[in-house]
Amino acid sequence: MVALLTSLRSTFYGLLASTGLYALFIGLLTIPVLQDQVIYLNRVTLTWFQDVNIPEQWGFLRNQVSPFFLKTPDGESLHAWHILPLGLYQQHQTALTDEPHGLASDIKERISFKLLRDDPSSLLVLYFHGAAGTLGSGWRPPSYRAMSAGAPYRIHTLAIDYRGFGASSGSPSEEGLLTDAITLAEWAMKEAGIPPSRIVIFAQSLGTAVSLSLIHHMATRPEPVLFSGVVLVAPFADVESLTATYRIAGTIPLLDPVARFPRLLCWLNTFIKTKWPSKSKLADFIRRCEDMDQGFSGYDITMIHAEDDYNIPWSHSEQLFWHAVNASMPRGITFEDLEEEKIASRVNNNAGGWAVERRTSRGVIREEIMKYGLHDRIMSYPVVSLAVMRAFHTLR
Ligand SMILES: *[C@@H]1O[C@H](CO)[C@@H](O)[C@H](O)[C@H]1NC(C)=O
Repeated sequence: MVALLTSLRSTFYGLLASTGLYALFIGLLTIPVLQDQVIYLNRVTLTWFQDVNIPEQWGFLRNQVSPFFLKTPDGESLHAWHILPLGLYQQHQTALTDEPHGLASDIKERISFKLLRDDPSSLLVLYFHGAAGTLGSGWRPPSYRAMSAGAPYRIHTLAIDYRGFGASSGSPSEEGLLTDAITLAEWAMKEAGIPPSRIVIFAQSLGTAVSLSLIHHMATRPEPVLFSGVVLVAPFADVESLTATYRIAGTIPLLDPVARFPRLLCWLNTFIKTKWPSKSKLADFIRRCEDMDQGFSGYDITMIHAEDDYNIPWSHSEQLFWHAVNASMPRGITFEDLEEEKIASRVNNNAGGWAVERRTSRGVIREEIMKYGLHDRIMSYPVVSLAVMRAFHTLR
């Protein structure tokens, strides 16, 4: 009896202590600096003790990747990789292997840069990675190879570590990451001389929020810029809806206990200063494109998500797709009506998942749901290579 009471009592104190710790943890999350640590995870580099100026460590051929730095208008320096497609590499292999190795002090002197700039048919992917890690982490290197798989003589890739990540300076913020993305896009258009019609934006996870901010920003300029296409892998609707569903490392549902109480979650969300309002940026982008005159090439958006993504559930892609389609229709459409239309019109690939496509006279929005692919490795899959090829209109 006494033993039972003692164990009941310790269970009770245990519960009290863990609830207290959790409340403390949630309390700490309302502090902006700590929030940013959880959202960006930029100090978790995953490439500890590795020099990110030696890309050969991640399986690239000698000088297939040229590391260099870009300057932002607000004084940060961004670490960037220029990745050559394999076919082009083979054509210039001897000259490339004879070049100096490692960080390029002047990228414009490198053969890779000249190959990109001087070929009027070269194509360029601007690559925006997800939270945590660096240019060399996890499934990113294999996914750079997937970018050019469909056109190995033409598709170059430029990837950056955002401010606060890897060897880049500064610390991350919503505004700062947008500045970084604009810096890369401006550099590609002005310094490398690639027009937006030969540029595709690729992004995964956190990067999808950065790229939606970027394309929205470019389309709302006095002289709007539209890229050839945008491929978003494992996107999320916004930070507010992410807090309810995000799982750290795909396993720890951070706010699940709070999410059971919608009003508590709502209240907690008022403390979250980082918003990344992707669904409204995407909707506004589509509305603006629909209103542009016919002189513009039109928009091309593809969202790809795996059903077994345990970090960000694919319901986020459903939300984004709905907001995008709704914005493309003068009178809009309800989520339920769109779901019915999707079931009637989708292409079923069985174990490969399914896909839907919506077209207007101004553009196209696609949603591709894969059965398998998790959160990261999907970036290296053929479905992504194919989506990138399709997003380059000149490859059709
Ligand atoms: C859907 O589109 C309609 C018409 O443009 C708009 O009034 C409505 O706010 C949109 N719904 C959402 C959820 O954005």
